[in-house]
Amino acid sequence: MSYQNILLQIQDAIATVTINREKAMNALNPDVLREIKDVFTNLTGNQEIRAVIVTGAGEKAFVAGADIAAMSQMTPQDAQEFGKLGHAAMDAVDQCAKPVIAAVNGFCLGGGLELALACDFIYASEKAKLGLPEVNLGLFPGWGGTQRLARLIGKGRAKEMIFSARILGVQEAYEFGIVNKVCKPEELLSSVRAVAAEIGKKGPVAVALAKRVIHEGSDLSLLQGLVKERESFPKCFETEDLKEGLAAFLEKRPAQFKGK
Ligand code: HXC
Repeated sequence: MSYQNILLQIQDAIATVTINREKAMNALNPDVLREIKDVFTNLTGNQEIRAVIVTGAGEKAFVAGADIAAMSQMTPQDAQEFGKLGHAAMDAVDQCAKPVIAAVNGFCLGGGLELALACDFIYASEKAKLGLPEVNLGLFPGWGGTQRLARLIGKGRAKEMIFSARILGVQEAYEFGIVNKVCKPEELLSSVRAVAAEIGKKGPVAVALAKRVIHEGSDLSLLQGLVKERESFPKCFETEDLKEGLAAFLEKRPAQFKGK
């Protein structure tokens, strides 16, 4: 698939996916969602990639939400398809076997915040504004926002944000636990690349397994989650990377992981 609405750049084993509809604040229409789904499905199977960054083109917006002009033309049936497609795109991000980091460079609203929440964690610029303002328009967050935000920050804060449509400044988003790190705008991408590169040096199979176990466990009781952890842990011992990691420690040298 060739992409019209996103840019894919790969450098030093880190893929950067840039939502590229600057004139519409990078709003997500069905074409963009299809491209997001496709690119993340492909990145999952790409052995060369160690981490993925998601950001928005330009200086103003990460993603200002679902495309409002497109939604204004939709019937309830179209909206059902749009909801499904949005879920499929966000799930492709969420389920990607690579660590995915959102670099939130500006407005991160509605479906834009839902995209960022589908990433593993968020770094944001001091200029970023984050919120789920859908109820201003007479709809509610339909691409995972009601579920992922409540799980991340708790039901009370999620309900307040969703019911009031209040848009948070980045400091408040940091205090709520939505944003892991606040960066100067000019340092956002370099900070995200630095953490991506650091993660990229670790055992890729171990990182991918940890991601999967965290995801699976977060919907389970502690005891059930611990069972998942116990089941997955021995899989590390089937890898060449584990032998390399242990040997490198004992030989007092950096490990060279291959992702096998
Ligand atoms: C389509 C959008 C857009 C959007 C901005 N634009 N957001 N187009 N969909 N979500 C377009 C504007 O129409 C305008 O186009 C251009 O981008 C610049 O936007 P302005 O409003 O002129 O910029 P500014 O005054 O700086 O305001 C920025 C803003 C505002 C605060 C981000 O644009 C805004 O409130 N946008 C909508 C945010 C929102 O409600 N998002 C949630 C959407 S619902 P022109 O052609 O006039 O230059 C959603 C649901 C997800 O996400 C789940 C679905 C199932």
